[in-house]
This record gives sequence, structure tokens and C-alpha cells, in this order.
Amino acid sequence: MKSARAFELPQQTLSKLIFNLVVPRPIAWISTVSIEGAVNLAPFSFYNAITTKPPLLMVSIGKRKDGSLKDTSKNIKETGEFVVNVVTRNLLEKMHLTGRDYPPQANEAEELQVELEPSICVKPPRVKESPASLECVVKEIVPLGSTPMDVVIGEVVALKWKEELLDTSKGVVGRLGGKRYCCVAEEIDLSHLK
Ligand SMILES: Cc1cc2nc3c(=O)[nH]c(=O)nc-3n(C[C@H](O)[C@H](O)[C@H](O)COP(=O)(O)O)c2cc1C
Repeated sequence: MKSARAFELPQQTLSKLIFNLVVPRPIAWISTVSIEGAVNLAPFSFYNAITTKPPLLMVSIGKRKDGSLKDTSKNIKETGEFVVNVVTRNLLEKMHLTGRDYPPQANEAEELQVELEPSICVKPPRVKESPASLECVVKEIVPLGSTPMDVVIGEVVALKWKEELLDTSKGVVGRLGGKRYCCVAEEIDLSHLK
């Protein structure tokens, strides 16, 4: 077993440890629309639920290497809306590829043939094949860290889901370290325990 104080570690090592030790992370495949109407789709795994009343989610969006805003951040800041699409095994490769650095005018969904359909309450469309999507409006954006990251807090205003997801999460994908992923294959139900 190794040990260290965080401040003693080089940043690269610290990042590698966080990426590999905080696992599996849920994946938010986020669709947004720019102010000009261009659709953007990108994955984020520094993502989680915060509260259910009201239903709040958080996603932490970093900067590009050149310090500029990622399209998702820019669109969210401009329009105040985003949609989180749940990723299952059949969508894994396409989701991963939308994480590449596409130019702002590129439509990742179109290039990768990811079919979209209208959302209920917000402008960004949802991924048609996704088994669930959470439509969000921005509640707060908290800049954190030295770069800094945009920690976006969104309130869920509408949802679309396949009913079977409430009984089983089989097939839902999570992020591990590096380019490794996992897929829910086994569920252990402890509901018989008090
Ligand atoms: C599975 C996965 C998870 C990712 N998680 C994050 C994340 O939590 N925060 C982040 O800033 N970038 C994350 N990325 C990288 C972004 O998806 C990538 O920078 C993407 O190009 C951003 O696209 P955009 O400029 O269209 O918003 C992740 C990439 C992948 C493949």
C-alpha cells in the first residue's frame, strides 16, 4: 500500500490517482445548443446527482488545453440549458468518440450518426437511442480550481425514461481510469436486509 500527502504529489500523478480511484463514474452524455442553433454532444464523467428536492445535478467542465471554453460550457453559459443522456453499452463507442476535440461548428451527433429527437421542455435535443434523458436548466455555475473548472449545477425540469431502468440498470456504462469503461452486468440486491 502506498501513501502520500496530496501536496507532495506531482499534478500528473494526483490526476491519475483521482481518475483511477474515484470509479466507476457515471457518464453524462450532454447535448447543448449554441446561441446560433448548432447542436453539440459531449461526454462528462465528473458528474453526479446532488439533491432530489429540488432535483439537482452537477457536472464539472474543464477548459481546453489552450485555455478556451469547451463548447458544452460555452453553450450552457449562453443558453442556460442542457440535456443529460444516459449511456448504455450499445452507445459506448459513439459516446467515447464525441469526447474528441471537435471544432465548435462541427455537429458530433451528425458525424457519428447519433440520432436526436426533440426534448420536452428545453431546446437541446435528446439522444433518441438513450434509455433516459434528464432535461436541465442552469441553477448555478461555480468556478473551482486553478484552471478553473466550471462546476455546473442544473435543475432537472423534465425527464424521459424507459420503465425497465427502474428495475435494472443492466447495460448502463460507467467510466474507469484512462480509456477504460465498465458496464453494469451484475446487480446485487440487498433489499432483504434491514
Ligand atoms: C467518458 C468521458 C468522460 C469525460 N469527462 C469529462 C469531464 O468530466 N469534464 C471535462 O471537462 N471533460 C471530460 N471529458 C472530455 C470532454 O468530453 C472533451 O473535452 C470534449 O471534447 C468536450 O467537447 P465540447 O468542446 O464539444 O464540449 C470526458 C471525455 C470522455 C470520453
